Parts: sequence; structure tokens; C-alpha cells
Amino acid sequence: MLGLGIESSCDDTGIAIVDGEHRVLVSEVASQIDCHRVFGGVVPEIAAREHLQILLPLYKKTLEKASISIENIDYIAVTAGPGLVGSLLVGVSFAKGLALATGKPLIPVDHVHGHVHSVFLDVSWREEDRFPALALVVSGGHTNLYWMRTPLDFTLLASTIDDACGESFDKVAKMVGLEYPGGAKIESWAKRGNPKTYPMPVMMKDRSQLQFSYSGLKTHVVYLLQRLQQTHGTRLPDEVIADVCASFQEEALGQLIRKTQLAVGKYPGAKSLLVAGGVAASTRLRERLAQEISIPAFFPSRANCMDNAAMIACYGGALFRNQGVEAFGALDWDVYSRYRPQMGQGA
Ligand code: KG4
Ligand code: ZN
Repeated sequence: MLGLGIESSCDDTGIAIVDGEHRVLVSEVASQIDCHRVFGGVVPEIAAREHLQILLPLYKKTLEKASISIENIDYIAVTAGPGLVGSLLVGVSFAKGLALATGKPLIPVDHVHGHVHSVFLDVSWREEDRFPALALVVSGGHTNLYWMRTPLDFTLLASTIDDACGESFDKVAKMVGLEYPGGAKIESWAKRGNPKTYPMPVMMKDRSQLQFSYSGLKTHVVYLLQRLQQTHGTRLPDEVIADVCASFQEEALGQLIRKTQLAVGKYPGAKSLLVAGGVAASTRLRERLAQEISIPAFFPSRANCMDNAAMIACYGGALFRNQGVEAFGALDWDVYSRYRPQMGQGA
């Protein structure tokens, strides 16, 4: 079985072809970072226009690279939400046109659930060994913790009540003068810094609450930088920036560790932890999870932590196999009404 995935929920345009064994034949991602960098973050209108320009050429390039005709594709999977509405509309409209023209089933996919399935792209997987599982998706837009009885059964246990974890990395990076997107740059500066230099507030201390919060930590860094600038001047010395990055990173990741430990305690049946999304690329997060979490953690490759269409095709394929072709004939759904995750009972 071959599936075509289409991803356009934020600032990466992705097209990929995967087979029924989660093998990636081709996965193309066109990044828009250069268009948004000058603004220090993603500009939704620019993102939608860029998707519009790149989608068709990227689709043709992907099929050519895979030496596959659209006739050989069994299903089309597209990100239907959550994400920037203008960006989603471009990908979904393209996918609907393709489905209409070819008669292929179209599978609408939840982007955040798709991130979880990115783990299956890179890990040899035996479901019975790994489920039930906990899943942590940490990206620029989401900080979600799920209980999963099976790969298709998502119960949202917790999410952020304000900023997402990756968003706080991007905002702190901008404040210390590092370019967007800032997560990886904070991590590399943090390697040269001492995480104990600047004590950070411990957010969401309540040991019974799984919810996340990052805006207080970000605000703390705003005031810390103001104080440091009074001492050092507006251009902070490199050692100071490195110490701020290390101190911030340790607490930002520390909150993920504490809440995951709490979830592992609340859900003792969990056999594994699946970790995905851009922040899962962090080497420091991987180290800390390995040391501080009592169940085995699985991650995608660093490239597949970022937004891509292979994860969408992979998850779409699992839905298609589970629900059958009849479930995916209709095209009368839209990006406004679908895939708003609901809080589960476990929060
Ligand atoms: O999954 P992704 O590509 O896009 C969203 O769906 O948001 O994640 C991008 C996010 C950005 O916020 C970026 O700063 C963050 O992932 N990120 C990191 C690291 N690498 C990327 N955050 C912390 N440490 C990293 N090494
Ligand atoms: Zn994402």
C-alpha cells in the first residue's frame, strides 16, 4: 500500500510518499524560515501564500523522485488541523482537488496526532510491546500529553494553558538576539553556559496537575534580561547569554520531565513514552528523559521531529487500514470544524 501525505499547517510545506510498513519512499519539505525570519516569527498571510506557490511544484518533484505515478497511490492524507487556517486551507483545497480528480480516498489527519506517528517512521515497532503508551508532543504550537491504549486511541490528558514549550524557546531566543526559530540555537548556546547561574521560577508546581504553562517563565526571562542589561549594557556578553540560555532551557525542559513523571505515576500501565514535535530534537531533553523517566522513551529522527508529510501519510495510512475506504469518500468537511482536540477524563 502506498500513501501520499500533504502537510501545510504552519510554515513548512511537505509532501511525502510512505508504504504500508511506515517506510518513507520520499519526503520533501520546503521550509519558509527565510521568509519569516525577518519578522522574528511566522506571519500567517505570508505562510499561506508561500504554500500556494510551492505545493504544486513540490508535489510533482516528490512523485518524480519516487518514480511513482499518482495512479499507484492508494490514499491521500492531508493535515486538516490544528494550525493556521489560511495555511491549512491551501493544503486541504489542493488535497481535495487531487482526490476529486483521481478518485482516491482522502483522509483528514490531526497534525498533533500525526507528530506522534512520526515515531513509527524511524523505530522498528511491535505494537504489543509498546502499548498502552504515554505520548508527549512538544512543538512550537503544542505541548500535549496523551494516554494511548492503541496507536489510534488518543486521550488528551493535558496541554498548555498559555504558550507552547517551543514557542517559549523561540521567544526567549528572540529576546537574547538569536534568530528564529530559536530552539536549536538556545540549545547550542546553553552547552557553553551554567544552568544554575540564574534561578528560574518553577511553573505549575502543583504535583496533582498535569497541565503545562510557559508564559510565566518567559516573563521571568524578560525581567531578568532588563536587570542584566542595567549591569552589562544592552549588548550582553556572550557568557551571560549562554548562562541565561542554559538556565532557561533547564527549567523549560524540567517542566516537561516533572509532568511526564507525574503522568507515568498516574498511568502505571504505560509501557512506553513516545516523544515527538520540534522540541523532541533537543539532545538535552533526550538525555534527561532517559535518566529521569522510568519507562523507555522513543523519538523520531531529528529531521522527522520537525513538521513533515511522512508522519501525516503514516498516520493517515493507519486510519485508512483501520476504518476502510468507505469511511473516506466524502469531501464535505472543512478545516474550521474538524480536529479540535477535546480534553480527556484524565486531566
Ligand atoms: O514541530 P515543529 O517543526 O513545528 C510545530 O509544529 O510547531 O517544531 C518547531 C519548534 C520551534 O519552536 C523550535 O524552536 C523548536 O521546535 N525546537 C527546539 C529544538 N529544535 C527545535 N526547541 C528546543 N530545543 C531544540 N533543540
Ligand atoms: Zn507540528
